Amino acid sequence: MQFSENVSLKSLNTFGIEAKARFYYELHSKQELKEIIPIIDKSEKPLLFLGSGSNILFTKDFDGYVVRIVSKGIRIISTNETECFVEAAAGEEWDSLIQFCIQNNLYGLENLSGIPGTVGSAPVQNIGAYGVEVKDCIHLVNIVMTSDFSETGLTNKECRFAYRDSIFKSRFQYRVLVDSVVFRLSRVPRFVLNYGGVTEEVERISPDSVDLKTVSQAIINIRNRKIPDPKVIGSAGSFFKNPIIDQTRFNRIINVFPDLKYFYDLGQNYKLAAAWLIEQCGWKGFRYGDIGVNENQPLILMNFGNASGKDILNLSRKIQQSVLDKFGIVLEPEVNIQ
Ligand code: EPU
Repeated sequence: MQFSENVSLKSLNTFGIEAKARFYYELHSKQELKEIIPIIDKSEKPLLFLGSGSNILFTKDFDGYVVRIVSKGIRIISTNETECFVEAAAGEEWDSLIQFCIQNNLYGLENLSGIPGTVGSAPVQNIGAYGVEVKDCIHLVNIVMTSDFSETGLTNKECRFAYRDSIFKSRFQYRVLVDSVVFRLSRVPRFVLNYGGVTEEVERISPDSVDLKTVSQAIINIRNRKIPDPKVIGSAGSFFKNPIIDQTRFNRIINVFPDLKYFYDLGQNYKLAAAWLIEQCGWKGFRYGDIGVNENQPLILMNFGNASGKDILNLSRKIQQSVLDKFGIVLEPEVNIQ
């Protein structure tokens, strides 16, 4: 059992931040856990499971064990006339699963096309885009407890999914390995096209009919117009979550700022467009040296080359402060800050 030492994580996080892992290991299967966990426990150093590093900001070297999940495999478990259950290994690239769905005519995940990341990290933060959240299609999340290697299949309800949240960010943080995810997909077309701009893009590509490939391509086109490619400019997608506030606070703010942008009326609550709040504070298109705020989507902070994690963190704090000063709203980071 060999750990590599002092490994650069620069190519292993989409922000492209230079940071070193004191120890590094690539995990191909859950069986290997039994060999590495006792060593990690004995060292008393922290453990970090890493997928493709698309939602993490390293602000310093990681003085512990970075274990990157590289397990592979996507298979159909069972199928009937209307549904199909597909199991994907945690280390699979998210987009490989999307391709699998397109090839097999399985509906449900197409609006999540083009999201960087791995299958195993999708349930952790309940990835979502263009009117769909991954929780809508998750049947089971198969996990292994690092304390005793017991294995459980958590049901959708047990995962306690919420907006960019799940049990894996609270009670189970750092304590479990997500080994695979079982998705419940539809064999009958059922598209979600009502998020702003999606219908128009689908009609532009294919005016006469809608299919899985068209919707997936439409989503990718919209993303490409707004979101910088992390292979070209370092970022972790949205840095902050959209804040959710209650009716009383909403009324107070909209009285002062009638142009306030918000999305869904979630019962008694309102989800505000953090991008708008940040734009109103004058940050859109901001650039200083190698750090910046995207000019199309100001929720995205960027590393143009050799920014440090601390530079990005400082920028995020300044943005938080100005949104707090102007609107009285606390922006919460979406990314995992280490
Ligand atoms: N807006 C502005 N100014 C801007 C950009 C946007 O005011 O410069 C306002 C507009 O009113 C727009 C609204 O913000 O209608 C929403 O913008 P957008 O559709 O880009 O979505 P978002 O809420 O900013 C969320 C996700 C994205 C996901 C998009 C599309 C979060 C934190 N982010 O962004 O996810 O791609 O919706 O569904 O919920 C990610 O999590 O990394 C991510 C990119």
